Amino acid sequence: MNFHVITLFPEMIESALSESITGRALGQGIVHLNTVSLRAFSQNSYGSVDDYTYGGGAGMLIQCEPVWQAYQEVLTRIEDTDREEKDPLIPMKEKKVRVIYTSPGGKLFNEKMAYEFSREEDLIILCGHYEGIDQRVIDRIVTDEVSIGDYVLTGGELPALVIMDAVMRRVPGVLNNEDSAETESFENGLLEYPQYTRPSEWMGVKVPDIILSGDHVKVDIWRHHESLEKTKERRPELYTEWLKSRGIW
Ligand code: ADE
Repeated sequence: MNFHVITLFPEMIESALSESITGRALGQGIVHLNTVSLRAFSQNSYGSVDDYTYGGGAGMLIQCEPVWQAYQEVLTRIEDTDREEKDPLIPMKEKKVRVIYTSPGGKLFNEKMAYEFSREEDLIILCGHYEGIDQRVIDRIVTDEVSIGDYVLTGGELPALVIMDAVMRRVPGVLNNEDSAETESFENGLLEYPQYTRPSEWMGVKVPDIILSGDHVKVDIWRHHESLEKTKERRPELYTEWLKSRGIW
């Protein structure tokens, strides 16, 4: 899978993804990262890509043309890779590549979206900055406007990293058995149950007897119960969804 990130801060993206599991996935070539600096497509000698907002209002807006040109560059790269892999004489079919724009005005990101995005061969992520991006270029190229939560960050790079991390771990081969994704929160629509490791007693607090009992059926029942209780208390809306999905609601 290939990530193409259009950003004002390519190093921020490269550096964060070079660590840990995402770094391993990149090193093994399971996923590829192509960062595109928006500044390289500045229309002036100052290297700026933003301007004042028409109609007044505070802050600067990223202009259409640098974004459009950066997008064209990414498309060329995707086409080139496709041609290398297939017969170079066969013209590439028009294909719709998904373009995610990170913005607090987008749809709230969740695990379902992460899974959906992980099925794409190429994903373009456009990082917002300043007060945002001129709407005309958004309307032309963006397929998914995505927010990572109801708060405003200074830029779209951290949201892009959050999205990429969540997407990457759904790409087959990225997680090994030790990093297993199977039982984690949201996997089955519920929050994860509590977990314990050695020692069996710490600061006078013991691991629940049932966990140490070795009876896997009982352990599974206990864990499921804990998951349900935790979800009911912390995320009632998820709990209701879960009940509905089971036909209990
Ligand atoms: N840019 C600024 N804040 C954001 C958020 N919460 N989600 C996505 N992009 C953003």
